[in-house]
Amino acid sequence: MTEDRTHAPEPAARPAPAPAPDTPHTHTHVQEFFGARAAAWDAKFPDDGPAFAAAVAGFGLRPGDRVLDAGCGTGRALPALRAAVGPNGSVLGADLTPQMLDAARQAGRDAQGVLLLADAARLPLRDAALDAVFASGLVAHLPEPAAGLRELARVVRAGGRLALFHPIGRAALAARQGRELTPDDLRAEHNLRPLLAASGWELVSYEDLDSSFLAVAVRRP
Ligand SMILES: C[S@@+](CC[C@H](N)C(=O)[O-])C[C@H]1O[C@@H](n2cnc3c(N)ncnc32)[C@H](O)[C@@H]1O
Repeated sequence: MTEDRTHAPEPAARPAPAPAPDTPHTHTHVQEFFGARAAAWDAKFPDDGPAFAAAVAGFGLRPGDRVLDAGCGTGRALPALRAAVGPNGSVLGADLTPQMLDAARQAGRDAQGVLLLADAARLPLRDAALDAVFASGLVAHLPEPAAGLRELARVVRAGGRLALFHPIGRAALAARQGRELTPDDLRAEHNLRPLLAASGWELVSYEDLDSSFLAVAVRRP
């Protein structure tokens, strides 16, 4: 994936050279699926703002922190992330779908952070470049979740944090999508905890309400 160089990266989280392009079929599928939905994304979910704000507020970010929104989409989390880390912090948003980043720019969210066209499983960032990663609605779309979570662990310093968030709970999402919630669901606690543990993370809190889903993990040394 290439980096979107429209906006110069902030020094605290300067990207490393981009890895060689690698766009397997699954990426094409993600880009087609979300590309077709990007322009209407925010209008489709107009009431999610408070859930994003609450999740970020409880995530423990500090002024000056370097945070990535992985799979940022239209950048709905970016204003809250910027507010949490302040003007001296660094906010990056990475997404695989160009149309999502276009919609983020049209909404003015590039004023809150640097947008990167990048695969969250192959990030153009140096080891331990970040204090935290916030990922809303991403993990279920990763073709190899363990590898993707390992990559997020690579770019976060020891003791740093990961939030896996969704502005709707698992059961409500399954109902909205007309499917059954089965025990093999990736984000069920009994699946997510060992998956995170095998990927460099320790799950420290897990909340699956109707209104939102939030799992927070800490990067193991
Ligand atoms: C359900 S949407 C969520 C978007 C945004 N985080 C939100 O909550 O509004 C999932 C997003 O993840 C992106 N995505 C999926 N796989 C990705 C990957 N491997 N790397 C980066 N972004 C990815 C999609 O392009 C899409 O924008």
